[in-house]
Amino acid sequence: MDYYRKLEKIGQGTYGIVYKGQEQDGTIYAMKKIYLEKLNIGLPCVVIREISLLKELQHPNIVKLCDVIHSKKSLTLVFEFLDQDLKKLLDVCQGGLDPTVVKSFMFQLLRGVSYCHDHCILHRDLKPQNLLINREGFLKLADFGLARAFRIPVKSYSHQVVTLWYRAPDVLMESKNYSTHVDIWSVGCIFAGKGKYFNIIISLPNIILEMINGYPLFPGTNEQDQLLRIFQILGTPTLQTWLEILNVTHFDKMFQKYDPRPWSSIVPSLDNLGVDLLSKMLHYIPHKRISAKEALQHPYFT
Ligand SMILES: Nc1ncnc2c1ncn2[C@@H]1O[C@H](COP(=O)(O)OP(=O)(O)O)[C@@H](O)[C@H]1O
Ligand SMILES: [Mg+2]
Repeated sequence: MDYYRKLEKIGQGTYGIVYKGQEQDGTIYAMKKIYLEKLNIGLPCVVIREISLLKELQHPNIVKLCDVIHSKKSLTLVFEFLDQDLKKLLDVCQGGLDPTVVKSFMFQLLRGVSYCHDHCILHRDLKPQNLLINREGFLKLADFGLARAFRIPVKSYSHQVVTLWYRAPDVLMESKNYSTHVDIWSVGCIFAGKGKYFNIIISLPNIILEMINGYPLFPGTNEQDQLLRIFQILGTPTLQTWLEILNVTHFDKMFQKYDPRPWSSIVPSLDNLGVDLLSKMLHYIPHKRISAKEALQHPYFT
């Protein structure tokens, strides 16, 4: 730890505090300090092994983990530093992002996800706060691997409830054997978000209204509400659209039947190719969701 000088705090999230740190040679890093005791995490060896695996991941769309420092009480992960996270950019970009930027970010996001999936690593918590960007227009995935080591948390370190907005319906239904498809759902939510999110491309009055509301696609307040919001937009799943849903006890009584809304009313500013890609990402049946690799080949990116 003596090697790095701690500068200001830049984030506080699920597992700990993120500081800006400086090495003796002047290089700036993002240092994430995780207090193992406070989180009541046992078996730090397992956790460290998981994290060490992340050091092997080298890709232009993945934030580089440069160092891991471990003490009895805490674990500090030292990452390459990026200018800001995507949520902060979206929060200040009232007019939304330019369509070409959206496309570039989507492509980079999928490249990062595809690389992780090729290496059998799920992110499981993809959301704008966990996507870092820099002035050169790069987008990199951050904050992953821990999800696998620590399980998906319900409460964050700062006792905020962890957002469910990007969580796949199969995960919300407590499916135990979920796979890479959960990340694709999140990518779809990030892509499609209304309000301040990705595809709000100014003009049309109804979009401006949504922008003022600043809402993501499915801003649920709890797991049940999250599912409800998904069903209200994509339609309540049926035997035809999602057979496994029948395994959920009392599913019939839990949710009203909603018809799917037309995509043009959900994402009016997205072109047909974008809508086609999006609909393939937000498929109810997990294994029918498009893979990151396939998505990269989609004509939307031509
Ligand atoms: N490498 C980095 N460069 C710049 N900012 C970062 C970096 N890593 C994290 N941050 C900031 O800190 C926040 C929390 O970090 P994150 O890794 O997502 O941890 P948590 O598990 O606590 O959510 C991010 O949303 C981002 O704003
Ligand atoms: Mg995070």
